[in-house]
Amino acid sequence: MTKQKIRNALLVHLVILFFFSTSVVSARVVSLLQNYGNPIFRSNFHSIYDTSKYGVFQLSNGLGKTPQMGWNSWNFFACNINEMVIKETADALVSTGLADLGYVYVNIDDCWSSVTRNLKGQLVPDHKTFPSGIKALADYVHGKGLKLGIYSDAGVFTCQVRPGSIFHETDDADLFASWGVDYLKYDNCYNLGIPPKERYPPMRDALNATGQKIFYSLCEWGVEDPALWADKVGNSWRTTGDINDSWASMTTIADLNDKWAAYAGPGGWNDPDMLEVGNGGMTYQEYRAHFSIWALAKAPLLIGCDVRNLTAETLEILSNKEVIAINQDSLGVQGRKVQVSGADGCRQVWAGPLSGNRLAVALWNRCSKVATITASWEALGLESGVHVSVRDLWQHKVVTGDAVSSFSARVDIHDCQLYIFAPFTVSHSVE
Ligand SMILES: *[C@@H]1O[C@H](CO)[C@@H](O)[C@H](O)[C@H]1NC(C)=O
Ligand SMILES: *[C@@H]1O[C@H](CO)[C@@H](O)[C@H](O)[C@H]1NC(C)=O
Ligand SMILES: *[C@@H]1O[C@H](CO)[C@@H](O)[C@H](O)[C@H]1NC(C)=O
Repeated sequence: MTKQKIRNALLVHLVILFFFSTSVVSARVVSLLQNYGNPIFRSNFHSIYDTSKYGVFQLSNGLGKTPQMGWNSWNFFACNINEMVIKETADALVSTGLADLGYVYVNIDDCWSSVTRNLKGQLVPDHKTFPSGIKALADYVHGKGLKLGIYSDAGVFTCQVRPGSIFHETDDADLFASWGVDYLKYDNCYNLGIPPKERYPPMRDALNATGQKIFYSLCEWGVEDPALWADKVGNSWRTTGDINDSWASMTTIADLNDKWAAYAGPGGWNDPDMLEVGNGGMTYQEYRAHFSIWALAKAPLLIGCDVRNLTAETLEILSNKEVIAINQDSLGVQGRKVQVSGADGCRQVWAGPLSGNRLAVALWNRCSKVATITASWEALGLESGVHVSVRDLWQHKVVTGDAVSSFSARVDIHDCQLYIFAPFTVSHSVE
């Protein structure tokens, strides 16, 4: 072969490897394993991004093929909610463009209900704050092309001491369905000491029996390691206690949730709790890290601030399409912490496989000063000779077209750079 021919052959053999279908959930594990046999990946790829514990998709309500996106009232409003707030939030999701980006669930948390059931034993919306009722609210939200979520508790009371749904599962599920509710967050207060494994399935069955597709979000705070059993019960399950609007809480929860990465997948997601982005307790860099890591870890993206009053910075973070695309990637494998260095392991690399043989890679600086963080191909599960094109999802540009063996970047205090790594190989057949 002439040099020119070799060069041409090299170009021709510059292969961006094939895409594969993950639309059929039952085929997911198989296609993933085939993919893992790809020569661009090291033999350790299987163990780094283990999905072997991902359960059989048994809830089969067809929901949650990608993590749920939307808004929830609790983190900003707590108990100070009413129907105007919910309607104005639905309006704001549309007017800001967030709805078009996928934030479609408008979820009412605790405090929507009266403190007692009616004479028929039914839950009743608080007549002062929700005078028009939940059905009217659902109609309004649906009219905007959005979905309505509601809240109850697998105990005798909700956390704010409204009636809980234990022993009323069928009645309450029927009522929610009659209102046109699309989503139920099911909390864990006043639970009589009955194990979650016994208290959560009856509501699954009651929701199923309504014949309506209702997303079922378990919130038992991770107390009985729900990742081990909840894929058969809900579409997502909280893995930790409540988040609060602080760096300490956000980082602690990210680490606790990471432990269960191998169990998440289409139809059933680990839930490290709702977003605090925009609530004021963290810096811009910390919120960017919060959003990046939640996206990479395939966490539900449920906005927790006042969307009627967003700053430009908050909107910029929440509406980053490229970061959202990582979260909503069809492969549905949770990214995880793959490499740490520095004092207390504060220089961190988090990564996860994406469709099309790509990787999402985060360089997260949890140190108290600026740091240079390096992701090695070995830690990422790539063969050392593999060439990678690196796109920065916060700068919205390719930062290098051809990285080999490792990639480094300088990262601000508590900031997180997020990238898509697109590996390509040069064929050996021309040698
Ligand atoms: C109810 O469960 C069955 C069996 O898992 C499933 O096929 C069906 O789609 C479910 N229906 C709803 C509305 O969730
Ligand atoms: C927030 O969470 C952190 C970490 O779990 C905890 O140390 C702190 O006390 C919490 N703050 C509040 C106000 O609850
Ligand atoms: C909007 O948010 C700012 C802080 O970003 C706050 O000072 C202001 O009070 C809020 N306005 C309303 C109407 O809530």
